[in-house]
Amino acid sequence: MPDLERVVLGVTGGIAAYKAAELIRLCKQHGAQVRVLMTSTATRFISPLTLGTLAESEVLIDLFPASETGLSGSWTQHVHLGRWAQLITIAPLTATTAARLAWGMADDMLTATVLSARCPVLLCPAMDEDMYRHPATQANLERLRGYGYYVLEPEYGPLASGLIGWGRLPEPETIFARMLELVRGDPRWQGRKVLVTAGPTIEPIDAVRFISNFSSGKMGFALAEQAAQRGARVVLITGPVQLPTPAGVERVDVRTAEEMFRLVQARSPEADVVIMSAAVADFTPLQTERGKIKKSRYSRGLTLRLRPTPDILAWLGEHRRPEQRLIGFALETENGESYALEKLHNKHLDAIVLNNPNEPGAGFGHDTNRVTVFFATGEAVHLPLQSKHRIADHLLDLIADRLL
Ligand code: CTP
Repeated sequence: MPDLERVVLGVTGGIAAYKAAELIRLCKQHGAQVRVLMTSTATRFISPLTLGTLAESEVLIDLFPASETGLSGSWTQHVHLGRWAQLITIAPLTATTAARLAWGMADDMLTATVLSARCPVLLCPAMDEDMYRHPATQANLERLRGYGYYVLEPEYGPLASGLIGWGRLPEPETIFARMLELVRGDPRWQGRKVLVTAGPTIEPIDAVRFISNFSSGKMGFALAEQAAQRGARVVLITGPVQLPTPAGVERVDVRTAEEMFRLVQARSPEADVVIMSAAVADFTPLQTERGKIKKSRYSRGLTLRLRPTPDILAWLGEHRRPEQRLIGFALETENGESYALEKLHNKHLDAIVLNNPNEPGAGFGHDTNRVTVFFATGEAVHLPLQSKHRIADHLLDLIADRLL
């Protein structure tokens, strides 16, 4: 098993920069070499002397050190560091450095090294909740995920501003555990074949119109991303969504329920775990017009006839190998628990994840969710409101602990 040996630790200018000292100590205790790169703002929060002493190496800040003329060639250190690193971690990551990285700016040693890197990059954003929630910050983090970088979401708690909310840097032990996981994988998931479905399906009415639902795909994409991070071999079958493909995931795009069904039939036999988080349309038009339906032909109104689509999850429940694990989702607006349990039993699942789109902050399109997981054993676990990435993290832990 590979071990953590060569870390580049980026530290940017936030109050949580003091936690970097402890993180360096954990890496050193583990036996890893650490090179610390700070932004100039970070040096106002914690001294390079402290971090350099703990890391037992010189801290780099500027691309062009003051003593250099630029003629000796040593300014290319970012390229060497980028290649040397086995893992780059930036903790804390400010909104500003997230923005610079998202747009490929390389105006200091840290950002230039990240651009030169070939290794996994773990980003640990930490800031005040409003800054974190701002669409610009969220869009930048989404963009960074799209480059294949891993994002460890901030936690809930007291913030430097005196407010309480999301935005706290996780404790150094939590960051270090994720760093180890990125290098070693999670032994419970390492090498497992996982099939995840995500997003809506679209069912064409004519050449330009379709029936669909509001699913954004975020929950399924978060599950695929986290499973890949833990070392699983992940196939993600997704309906049409506006999301970047997570790092290390094989993505297959489909449009209709019928197409998703065919692909699940083809790819599920090899899977150890199947997670059906797609919001598959239950009905599709009986006929699809080849051209565009003209309004003038239906001035008194248009009645569409629909037929049911195949229930993919029910098919999976009937065709699964005994050792294959099968997890479904249930979207219910009322009587959630009884409907979810009915689906759990009728579709022969190991677990079902219940969510209610009417609850604040939960369901389609939101970045957050709150769910209850029901296991076939009768156990129920409630996961309170949190980001879909954190929900995915908990779900994978629950599945690993209870079902693998
Ligand atoms: N599902 C599926 N194929 C369908 C419809 C749903 O595989 N044609 C899966 C979903 O991916 C989800 C689970 O079945 O994992 C439950 O979906 P949900 O929409 O909550 O329930 P349905 O079974 O469609 O029943 P109803 O719409 O009546 O609640």
